[in-house]
Amino acid sequence: MKNVFIMDHPLIQHKISLLRKKETGTNEFRRLVEEIAVLIGFEAFRDLPLEDVEVETPIETCMTPMLAGKKLAVVPVLRAGLGMVNGITTLVPSAKIGHIGLYRDPETHEPHEYYCKLPVPIEQRQIVVVDPMLATGGSAVAAVDFIKKHGGKTIKCMFIIAAPEGIERLTKAHPDVQVYVGHLDRELNEAAYICPGLGDAGDRIFGTK
Ligand code: PRP
Ligand code: URA
Repeated sequence: MKNVFIMDHPLIQHKISLLRKKETGTNEFRRLVEEIAVLIGFEAFRDLPLEDVEVETPIETCMTPMLAGKKLAVVPVLRAGLGMVNGITTLVPSAKIGHIGLYRDPETHEPHEYYCKLPVPIEQRQIVVVDPMLATGGSAVAAVDFIKKHGGKTIKCMFIIAAPEGIERLTKAHPDVQVYVGHLDRELNEAAYICPGLGDAGDRIFGTK
């Protein structure tokens, strides 16, 4: 599928399997989410533009590539997306951080917005939306809608686990957005949870229930 990139790296698969285990505690869960964000980010940033700059080594002066072009903004979807932010800033420490607060209505499963603060001007940044879970796709579509409404133009989304239903909805609504996924799971259940999934990502990251 165009603009959808499903990761196949063994380290990502191994760490996602550890995340899935119900006995994985908050501490380990949080660490794994951060590590997986680094590994998916490594792949998602493969196309960042470079420019040659002059650098003086202890031996001689040389031209050597460094990151160029648009600056990065990472936008976690609250709450669970917060768990991936440090992974992204490990890779690109200069990234600015925006926040979009959304929660799913337990009955309708549709997202409700409760907070939004984005770096300005957002149109000049490469934006990376992070959220561990893409289930119905409602939250991701709402987040990208919102970023575009504020002027965001170049947008990638990163998820650790996605359901086919979410990929379908997000790519239909936003075919221009590149979607990076750690693992594509089987389906949603009647409560719109991903199967086999890992349960409620926000609760497992923050130790709530
Ligand atoms: C989870 C998850 C996504 C959303 C995915 O958040 O982190 O944001 O659900 O579901 P969707 O694709 O069906 O919209 P949740 O609403 O549980 O909020 P939380 O992060 O505060 O726990
Ligand atoms: N949100 C989660 O945290 N987990 C799911 O399986 C679906 C939505």
